[in-house]
Amino acid sequence: MKIGIIGAGNIGATLARKLAASGHEIKLANSKGPDSIRDLARDVGATAVSKENAVQGVEVVVLSIPFAKHSELSNLFKDVHAGIVVIDTSNYYPFRDGAIAEVVGGKPESIWVGERIGRPVVKAWNAVLAATLSEKGRPAGASGRIAIPVAGDDLKAKAIAMELVKATGFDAVDSGGLAESWRQQPGTPAYCTELTANELEPALQSADRSRAPGNREALIREFMAAGDKLAHDDIVARNRAVTA
Ligand SMILES: NC(=O)c1ccc[n+]([C@@H]2O[C@H](COP(=O)([O-])OP(=O)(O)OC[C@H]3O[C@@H](n4cnc5c(N)ncnc54)[C@H](OP(=O)(O)O)[C@@H]3O)[C@@H](O)[C@H]2O)c1
Repeated sequence: MKIGIIGAGNIGATLARKLAASGHEIKLANSKGPDSIRDLARDVGATAVSKENAVQGVEVVVLSIPFAKHSELSNLFKDVHAGIVVIDTSNYYPFRDGAIAEVVGGKPESIWVGERIGRPVVKAWNAVLAATLSEKGRPAGASGRIAIPVAGDDLKAKAIAMELVKATGFDAVDSGGLAESWRQQPGTPAYCTELTANELEPALQSADRSRAPGNREALIREFMAAGDKLAHDDIVARNRAVTA
């Protein structure tokens, strides 16, 4: 497929590399402009473009930018064909994104994102740590293959997103519509806990909406205080323990 990825950081560049390796044609964009990511794009097998170019002539757009920055994309999809699939990888962290009243009040994050850009999105790859995404993908059928939840209201768009998740080395679990997508937001048992498909489904069901923001804040405080002293496996273990 022809795919535009906006955001060339930890997640966007990793997705570009993996999706290019599985045969997709990737355009990669950031905020500073194509010249600033020319070498990176070449390295991952993508073409560096502007964000305006990234949404033209593609079937899928992946948004992988800090949550609050979606407000800067409000005009981007104005002239883009209606059938385009938009995938949102973002998570809301108040320390980074500021206080966004609607989201603090409980609006699912990906609904808020869709409202900013004027298009419904599919939520995928938000609940996997960057290191998990880059290092822990496995071929289909491998034992212990980690699963990623995918939420969305348009079933065709969600099916496409699930196929792309599988192409990046993970099982894809249908986590329902966007109204339910709080179940894979930070502070829930499904968020960055490296579960298999059989484990992820009950984890999504057991999520407690009222506890998630408190869990998120407790974990981020802990991780920031630890600096680089926490190993990746410790982070996953703490995510599991605090959200259980
Ligand atoms: N890191 C993780 O472990 C992880 C895991 C799952 C999901 N996520 C979520 O995925 C998203 C991306 O995370 P990340 O860690 O990849 O971030 P990151 O490394 O900080 O990269 C952010 C990218 O977004 C670009 N960007 C920022 N504002 C933009 C705008 N207005 N237009 C176009 N591009 C813009 C930046 O480009 P410039 O450098 O040119 O500004 C940069 O390439 C976040 O919402 C994050 O919460 C992260």
